[in-house]
Amino acid sequence: MKNSNHISIEKVNAFYGDHHVLKDVTVGFPRKQITAIIGPSGCGKSTLLKCLNRLIDLTDGARVSGKIIVDGIDVLNNSIDITDVRRKMGLLPQKPNPLPMSIYDNVAYGPRIHGIKDKKKLDETVEKYLRIGGLWEEVKDRLKSPANKLSIGQQQRLCLARGLAVEPEIILCDEPTSALDPVSSQHIEQQLLKLKNDYTIVIVTHNIHQAMRLADYVIHLYLGELVEHGPANEVLENPKEERTRAYINGTFLADVKEDQEINLKGNVCPYNFVYAKQALHALAKGKILKVIVDDPIAVTEVPRGMEADGHEVVSVKQQNKTDWEIIIRKQS
Ligand SMILES: Nc1ncnc2c1ncn2[C@@H]1O[C@H](COP(=O)(O)OP(=O)(O)O)[C@@H](O)[C@H]1O
Ligand SMILES: [Mg+2]
Repeated sequence: MKNSNHISIEKVNAFYGDHHVLKDVTVGFPRKQITAIIGPSGCGKSTLLKCLNRLIDLTDGARVSGKIIVDGIDVLNNSIDITDVRRKMGLLPQKPNPLPMSIYDNVAYGPRIHGIKDKKKLDETVEKYLRIGGLWEEVKDRLKSPANKLSIGQQQRLCLARGLAVEPEIILCDEPTSALDPVSSQHIEQQLLKLKNDYTIVIVTHNIHQAMRLADYVIHLYLGELVEHGPANEVLENPKEERTRAYINGTFLADVKEDQEINLKGNVCPYNFVYAKQALHALAKGKILKVIVDDPIAVTEVPRGMEADGHEVVSVKQQNKTDWEIIIRKQS
């Protein structure tokens, strides 16, 4: 059943008042896979996510039509018990929102509501989910300290653990790393990759590199329309639609002209990264470096390392069967 759809949506339309934000979106989210929703700001990514768990009901003037089938149940049908459906879905927001209580109590919160009172059982549950969230080792000696004392990246992993402790089947993430530093982002990405063994994951991101690192499937939304959907490597590396190609190649950068080009074919990681850094070092802030690589690892690792150093990765394009070009704008 691995590739069957856990969520199927059909002709979903969403409006805020007169503003038609999602237009006839029909698509499926395969079980135990990561689907990334990509697209520019304002195209309806968050709205689509909020339709899935009907959090959109909380927005005054919002209307949704169509079908959203989760495990055979239409989430948009008003006669269903929405709390049941919501329990199946955990939401990881853009900014971590820990409850004003201890680390322990944050994770124990959901299980307590669901009636677990036994101290030993709660202890086990808290440890289990802090481990799954990838935070246990860092906090096991200070479980009673306030959650807001944690770094922002740790708080986000705590929120992940808290969400998982109520045993959802689906994890919805809305740009879950956009408020985090690169190392914390990497932690969250690593956890999500592990979690897809057990959960269906939908992640909204406007970061193509993140989509490349994480996604099995990609949905490209543009102005509320589904432009393209398919396996991540097809959509990201060889899109069928010109609008997707334009977005991915960062046409926003169509006119970017490199100031220097460095050919690192034949070099493997981490050397290609080190040489690219040296080349960038010689350039002034704002200048553009084009790096050519043929090491498949470099296609994700060079952009990640450059972002970690605070530079802007303008685009990553495949030139031919073996070669890729990475365009970087020096920031610092
Ligand atoms: N609560 C709201 N009321 C009115 N318009 C909204 C509301 N939330 C979002 N919008 C509008 O809907 C469109 C899609 O927004 P959103 O789903 O947040 O896009 P994205 O997440 O892709 O940036 C935007 O034009 C936005 O301004
Ligand atoms: Mg959004």
